[in-house]
Parts: sequence; structure tokens; C-alpha cells
Amino acid sequence: MPTRRTLVSASILDADLSNLARDSRKALRSGADRLHLDVMDGHFVPNITFGPGLIKRLRRIGKQPFDAHLMISEPGRYMDQFIDAGCDSITFHVEVDEPIEPTLLKIRKAGRQAGLAIKPATPLSALEPYRELLDIVMVMTVEPGFGGQSFMKEAATKILPAHQIFRGRSDGMPAGQVHVDGGVSRQSAELCGGLAAEVLVVGSTLWKKDRDIAREIGLIKALADEGYRNGDGKGQRAVPHDEWVPFATLPRSIGRRLLNEIEAAGVPVIQIRAERAPGAEGPRDYELLIPAGCEDAAAERFGEARQLARGEAEARRHAPQDRTRRDPNVRGGTA
Ligand code: DX5
Ligand code: ZN
Repeated sequence: MPTRRTLVSASILDADLSNLARDSRKALRSGADRLHLDVMDGHFVPNITFGPGLIKRLRRIGKQPFDAHLMISEPGRYMDQFIDAGCDSITFHVEVDEPIEPTLLKIRKAGRQAGLAIKPATPLSALEPYRELLDIVMVMTVEPGFGGQSFMKEAATKILPAHQIFRGRSDGMPAGQVHVDGGVSRQSAELCGGLAAEVLVVGSTLWKKDRDIAREIGLIKALADEGYRNGDGKGQRAVPHDEWVPFATLPRSIGRRLLNEIEAAGVPVIQIRAERAPGAEGPRDYELLIPAGCEDAAAERFGEARQLARGEAEARRHAPQDRTRRDPNVRGGTA
């Protein structure tokens, strides 16, 4: 499978706010590529979170980039503080009622990436005047203010054309990145990938009770990459599939062989770490997921290969136990 393309920026808005260092570390150790910090002032949005002081203290937990997302009315006024806090990228809203260009220039001058975010109802054309100054376009797929809202498909139609903002710039700078923020989960990741989003901001879905964060991040990246590979660039998929279903749970290498066989027949397959019971030992299993619409056909065509793979996995799993059967104590016990 090609290397991963889509990055995940973990939003800590819905993490345990009294344990932000612990949860941020957890996200970064679980495969998040970046950390997304939602700053709200109770004015630009009807919610208040934290400011540059907290980001500065948090900065030391890891080397991964910190993305500040400022949902505040006066980003210009506080920009020095966010730069000083060690943010690697700073994105604020194009809808603010103050001059935008000087603030973007200030971020760039400090050697950080400059971004503009757009609310669901704002057209991309609002970004046009700043195209030469942008490293990031953040497409909001919820109304900014709160985590845990539903992904707005209509707003997502801006993801693909947002890339145009970076094209044909006079500075010859490499293209910037499109971040998608709001309601991103395993349900919407594939669509975002199909629209070529580079960075997915993932919040509340990571912080659900008993979530295996590493598995969730892995799944979201795999789905987004799958969408990217199969998409036609318009959010349409080569194979229509709204839902992925498990096809087999196998050790990684055995699963990989089966995956190659199925993909050679044109059915996309995702391999992700399987969940396992707490305290379980031995090598982890990996789950193969296929589009629900292909389930019956795949079962018919690859049912036998799956049986063989399961048999091989079973033999491998029991290999050590066979040795214990030769243990004299065990033999004594059964005699
Ligand atoms: C919303 C924030 C988002 C939020 C995303 O205003 O900008 O970054 O944390 O959270 P989810 O993933 O739950 O929509
Ligand atoms: Zn955000």
C-alpha cells in the first residue's frame, strides 16, 4: 500500500481540560501528526477556551507541530503572544472585522505558517485577496464554537476547490495545505480524503469513553487515504461505499497477503489494528475492512482464501501452546 498521505491534527477541545498535557501527549503518541488548539474569546464565537499562556506551557510536551485555530475577534491584537507561545501555524478567521493582511504578514515574518479559516457559509472567494500570503486554508465543516457537531457535507464541497487558492502564485512557493475542521470522524474521513484534504482536524471522536485513540486515528487516516486513491477528485468514489465492514481478522502479514489478493480484483481493502481485550498478550491482530456493498461478492470469491488464511493464523497462534502440551505436568494431569 502506498505511504500515508493524510495527516491528523488532534483537537484537544473535548479532551479532559484538567489534564490537557496528559491527553495531548496521548494523542501525539497515538499517531496524531499535529496538535490543533482551539482558542475562543466568547465574542467571535459563543464559547471561551484558553489563550496563548496555556499553549506556551503545553508546547514542551512534544516536537510535533502546534496549529493554533483562533476563533477570536481581534487576532491582530494578540498575535505576538501566539507567536511567542511557540505555535508552528496560526490560523484565524477571514470573517474578522479588522485588517487581515498585516496579521498574516506578521505570522510569516516570524517564520510560522499563516492560515485563514472560513465558516461554512463563507465563499472561497473571500480568501482571494490573501492568496499570496497563505500557507493554510482551513475549511470549517461545522459552525465554529463547539466540538461534537455533525459534519456539514455542503460546506465540504469547498475542500477541493480550496486548493486552487495556492495555485499560480507569483512567489513560486510550494503549495499550502487544506485543513478540514469540524465533525471529522470515521464517517466523514473518506469523503475528505477524496477531496484531497491534507490535514484532518479530529476532535471529539478521539475522546469518547474507552476509545482506542491509536486505532481511531489509524482508521481515519486509512479511510482518508482510501478516499484519496479511489476518488475521482470530485468526492465521488470509484467503488461506491458508505460503510466499511470487517472481512477478516488476521495477523498482519497473513492479512496483508489476503488484502493484496482482494485488491488485485479491484475491491479496496483497509487494514487496521484490531481491538483487543485488556491484558491480552502476543502479537496483535489486524482487521481487514471492505466496502459493505462488496461484502457478498467478496465472501463468495475470497471465502476460501479467507478460510486458508484463518487456518494459517490459527496454526501460528497455537504453535506455542502445542509445546505446552508436551509439558510433563500437563500430560500427567490428563492421564
Ligand atoms: C470547532 C473547533 C474544532 C473542534 C472540532 O469550533 O474549531 O476544532 O474541536 O471538534 P469535532 O471534531 O468534535 O468537530
Ligand atoms: Zn478548530
